[in-house]
Formats: sequence, structure tokens, C-alpha cells
Amino acid sequence: MLLRVDKALSQLQVAARSESKKLIRDGRVFLDNRRVMSGAEKFDPQIETLYMDGRPLRYEQFQYFMLYKPAGCVTATTDAVNRTVMDFLPKKRHRNLAPVGRLDKDTEGLLIITDDGALGHSLLTPGKHVEKTYYAIISGEATAEMAQQFAVGIEIGEKKLTAPAKLKILSVGEKSEVEVTVTEGKYHQVKRMFHAVGSEVLYLKRLSMGSLVLDETLKPGECRELTPEEAELLKALKSGIA
Ligand code: URA
Repeated sequence: MLLRVDKALSQLQVAARSESKKLIRDGRVFLDNRRVMSGAEKFDPQIETLYMDGRPLRYEQFQYFMLYKPAGCVTATTDAVNRTVMDFLPKKRHRNLAPVGRLDKDTEGLLIITDDGALGHSLLTPGKHVEKTYYAIISGEATAEMAQQFAVGIEIGEKKLTAPAKLKILSVGEKSEVEVTVTEGKYHQVKRMFHAVGSEVLYLKRLSMGSLVLDETLKPGECRELTPEEAELLKALKSGIA
């Protein structure tokens, strides 16, 4: 894909489009070893490297972050009252980043934030069936019967039952620990599913989306960019192969 130099400089947060004119006029911007003469020049970032003051600028069309969402912030780009998940991203970042899907304010765990809007959108389309696995602590005893009900689908007040979900019981007691895997993303889905079978979710954390797994070396509130391999996994999810 061909890109304008001034647009690339602005996306890389090197200079606003208006300022890049001066940088170019001052001879500070090169494509490989060719001096750039105008911001309107186009280049293919797969083929040519953009340099500023002799320093190569790694141009990536999109950014993909993995955030270990902490409890207490909302999954939104802005909010008049609450902290948002965007507050945990580095200050130096692309514009137009937005979370892929939504975790409740009290839910923790894996959240992808990207400016690849087409990817984000396609991962959320209902037909996509991306598996999302959560660790949950629920009130009361988790039972094999619950697991069976989850496998069939649960009546949560929607037109249809939920799609079949997997329930793995990790521990049973006054509170139980479970792992639940769903393929839909209905509002408060996991909480409503447990409520429908007589239990309440006391703690919820997303562990994975498809084969993309929360990096457990991150602490709540920490984020990092996806590795190229992880970004590929994410794109594979979009095409339904991961
Ligand atoms: N299901 C819920 O109930 N809440 C979440 O945050 C995610 C899934």
C-alpha cells in the first residue's frame, strides 16, 4: 500500500501534517537514501524505509495492544466520570485506537485495543463465533448439571438460547471456581448465564480470545503491543482459522 510521507510522519507522531513541510524543506526526511522533497510523495513501507535525521522510522499501518484490563475502568474511549481503558495505553500511540468488544467495569483480563477498525469490527460480528474464555468465581457449588445446561444453551431472556458454551469446573465449595468459554458477546453474557442457573458471578477475568492468550506476566493495568505472531493470530481469528 502506498502512503503519503506527510501522513506517515503524522501517524508516527513525528510531526503534524503542517509541521512535516518544514522538516522536509530542511532536508531532514529521507526515503532510503533519497531526500524527500514533498510531503505528497508516496512510498511503500514494505519496500522503502522512512528516515528522520538519519534515524529509521518503523512504520506500521496499525497498532495492536493487549491490555490486562483492571477492574474499575470502563471499556470506552472517553467517559465523563470513570477512568477508561485508554488511560492505560502509552501516551505515544496512534490516533483512532479503540477497544475490540467490551468488558464490564468490574471485569478484568484480556482486552485488545487497535486502530485496525475493520479487524475489530469483523471479530465482533455475531456469525464469527470467536471463543472467549473466562475464569470466574461464582457463588455456590458449580455442578455437572450446570455444565450440561451451558452445553445446550441458556435462556437469558433473549429471543434464542445462548449458543452452547463450555463450563470447566476448577473447584467446588461455598464459592466455586470455573472456566467458561462462550462464542457470543451479549451484554453481561456470562453473568446472565450463571444467574439463570441460580448462581452469581463474584469475579470475572477474560483469559483468551481464540488462540490469543492474556500474557500473565502483565499486571492489571499494564499493556504491551502484540508481537507480530500475536497480531497474525488475531488476523487469523478474523478469517476463522485460529
Ligand atoms: N460477560 C459478562 O457478563 N461480563 C463481561 O465483562 C464479559 C462477559
